[in-house]
Amino acid sequence: MKNNEYRLKYHLMPLEGTIADPNGMCQIEDTFHIFYLNDPQAFKTKGRVPCLWRHYSTQDFINFVQEPIALLPDSRYDRDGVYSGSGFYEKEKLYLFYTGNVRHEGNYDYIMAGREQNVLMVQSADYIHFDDKQLLMTNADFPKDMTKHVRDPYVFYQDQYYMFLGARDIHDQGMILAYESKDKKEWKFIQRIKTKEKFGYMWECPDYFELSQQQILVCCPQGIKQHEYENKHQCGYFILHGDFRNNYQLERFQAFDEGFDFYAARTFLSQDKRRILVGWMGIPDCPYKTPTIQYNWNDALILPRELTFRDNQIYQYPIRETKNLRTKHLYKELVEKEIYYYQSHVCQIHLEITFQKFQIDLRKDLQLRYDGKILTLSLQESGYGRDKRCVKINEISEIDIFSDISSLEIFINHGQKVMTTRVYDSYHDTKIKVSCPMTMDYYELKSYNIIEKKETKR
Ligand code: FRU
Repeated sequence: MKNNEYRLKYHLMPLEGTIADPNGMCQIEDTFHIFYLNDPQAFKTKGRVPCLWRHYSTQDFINFVQEPIALLPDSRYDRDGVYSGSGFYEKEKLYLFYTGNVRHEGNYDYIMAGREQNVLMVQSADYIHFDDKQLLMTNADFPKDMTKHVRDPYVFYQDQYYMFLGARDIHDQGMILAYESKDKKEWKFIQRIKTKEKFGYMWECPDYFELSQQQILVCCPQGIKQHEYENKHQCGYFILHGDFRNNYQLERFQAFDEGFDFYAARTFLSQDKRRILVGWMGIPDCPYKTPTIQYNWNDALILPRELTFRDNQIYQYPIRETKNLRTKHLYKELVEKEIYYYQSHVCQIHLEITFQKFQIDLRKDLQLRYDGKILTLSLQESGYGRDKRCVKINEISEIDIFSDISSLEIFINHGQKVMTTRVYDSYHDTKIKVSCPMTMDYYELKSYNIIEKKETKR
């Protein structure tokens, strides 16, 4: 069964099975391409199912085409999963770089032994059909002190081609391995990028870009100390000073999102020079539940966000195309204690705030509470185990809540902080109650239009 009460309206979801990391995003001419990891059989089979890359394209972020499957785990080098990677457009060709996962049968720990993580490249002239899998690197090409966990190639060009790989060494230290190449085929190891003190055992999904002349290194460190009410794995960035090839320093790690469901952020540059981030609205190894699994699907991708840099941090806000989803608009002065019922969960709620201590009750049992220093997001039943997340923030002047059938993305002070969560309540629970006066702009939003393309023979 594909449809059920929790299907989202304006987020990308899997047709069936899992969705995880977005990958290979780019804009070619007037079309944006978003690939993502998918295990179509995940909830149907007991054993492990290798993931593949699916593909959405869009010109306006409202009408999407579900393109044919881009990459299948059909070779000796990726037979146990087409893992994450990146896209690179050059001279009318789109190249995808990815990790081919191979697991050997046997009594292995799959960290030190029993696994292959190969770097592969494919190319396409129509940006839809990808051919000619080329093996670029195997574990033998990584430094000797690496475990078998080295993956998720991120390729970019400066004076030559560079590739960043997420890695775990044999001392369980997470880091990035940097490689260089003149032709995208022969790769030479040049550098380890890591923190002075160990910061987690593995850094997944690297990404790297410049934003307002700052170098930003993105990754998902696993195994860092988990404070109370924090996610098990993190996804964020370091500001990098100096030259990653020689002398560099990493500033402190900053999380992109302090909600429950956010991981594997990847970015791309649009033709009009916006740095756009897409992430997985989900997270690995979490203790909370996803009730949609009974309907044979789970997570989604977040609403794409534009990144800007201010006050030594990244601000994130939904891309301007999101405005085109708006249908009805309503302005309301909310007063203390009154319960206001709005029409639909599929909406944007913009709140202007003056009082620096407040509580907002939303939907069935979700609460946002601010004490002047810490904003706390809490859920009860509708969180399915999602309990509490906290964010430190000195002042709050506005909050934007992008609400969909079973998700909320909460942007504080126009994206200074963000909290993303899934929420499983019913369409009857469309209420808001505030503890002090504030004003609300409520916009009903419309659904994405998704066209499914038939698989074509290659
Ligand atoms: C991140 C990740 C990647 C890997 C992929 C495999 O979510 O673990 O490091 O390529 O997922 O599913």
